[in-house]
Amino acid sequence: MEFLKNIRIVSSTSPSNKRVLLRVDFNVTISPNMKIVSDQRIIQAIPTIKLLLKNRNKIILISHLGRPNGRDAKLSLSNVAERLQVFISDYKIILIDDFQSQLGEQKLKLQKDNEIIILENIRFYKEEQENNKIFAKKLSLLADAYVNDAFGVCHRSDASIVSIPLFIPSFCGLLLEKEITAISMLFKNRSHPITAIIGGAKISTKIKFLSKLTTIADKIILGGALANTFLLAKGFPVGNSLIEEGSIEDAKKIMSLAEKNNTKIILPIDALGIDNNEVKSFTITSIPINFAVLDIGPQSRLLFTDNISKANTIIWNGPVGKCEDSSFSQGTIAIYNAIANNNHCFSVIGGGDTLAAISDKKYHEKISHISTGGGALLAFIENSTLPGIDAIRQNL
Ligand code: 3PG
Repeated sequence: MEFLKNIRIVSSTSPSNKRVLLRVDFNVTISPNMKIVSDQRIIQAIPTIKLLLKNRNKIILISHLGRPNGRDAKLSLSNVAERLQVFISDYKIILIDDFQSQLGEQKLKLQKDNEIIILENIRFYKEEQENNKIFAKKLSLLADAYVNDAFGVCHRSDASIVSIPLFIPSFCGLLLEKEITAISMLFKNRSHPITAIIGGAKISTKIKFLSKLTTIADKIILGGALANTFLLAKGFPVGNSLIEEGSIEDAKKIMSLAEKNNTKIILPIDALGIDNNEVKSFTITSIPINFAVLDIGPQSRLLFTDNISKANTIIWNGPVGKCEDSSFSQGTIAIYNAIANNNHCFSVIGGGDTLAAISDKKYHEKISHISTGGGALLAFIENSTLPGIDAIRQNL
């Protein structure tokens, strides 16, 4: 599989002396007091920004932030622009409130060599998610070339992802190249056993991904509320725990698919949770009626980490417990430490909740690839490509 076939990549062919629209994914989490929780997505885009600057391009950045319904001051990119200014101090970062206004047009026209322009949250315009071609055309007219470095949003068929490349020469940025190269290792040159650890709350958003995983992985370890639905589907009552009633049949289908494909599904054998206001652990076969599962239990930690230590390829998405509560973060931390301590594996970790769970942990360098994508990572594994990648491929 040639994931980057027929795609111009800035690492080998960069635009030079051009006006470049650079689509990035600066969709960072903003805390209630308006602070950026993690600036990783900004940091990861900097190599492409620097490369384009080195080649004397003028950069116009496009990003979304959150899921606004029209203009929303809380989702302005002003914080992001300020943070970017800290990293790129030699250039002046200018946020343009509305690129279609007279003032916006003027600022764009007068962009100086030492200025980087960032357009205000592109999702403030409804045309973005409607994939409006006229809107994409308007954006394309701002520049001579387009660079996609927004892996995290490449699974969306939004105007700034799939339609700008219809109008101007388009390129793959360094981060997008790095993500594609690393994640595609899960498809080629992969070393068995391949173990996936999938957590989080919902099966419904991961059905197709889990089905595809049964054709890739030797073992799929399930945790989080998602595992509760599987346990119930196998006939183990899970008390008062979060489950997805409507996904029990899907869980059964995934288990039978796994059996057909010779993939072992590993479920928790015990759980930690709350029983009558007390933190307790129970084996899966004896969960009381009022007990709510909130983390994997100590025996499951051993089972999961033992399997992780034997894996040669690892994919991890989703915490295995309610890890924002320190009483229920042990399972997720154990998974992370087991992956970091496995010195012989190739590991890919992704997903917003997963990254939030490990953001303050050490040993990030021991993970082969920490993806900036959540939904994009799952969709790429599921389909071996993404709309945003195909869009810059077709453009050749
Ligand atoms: C993400 O955070 O996964 C990407 O930025 C995409 O955001 P979205 O799910 O709101 O499209």
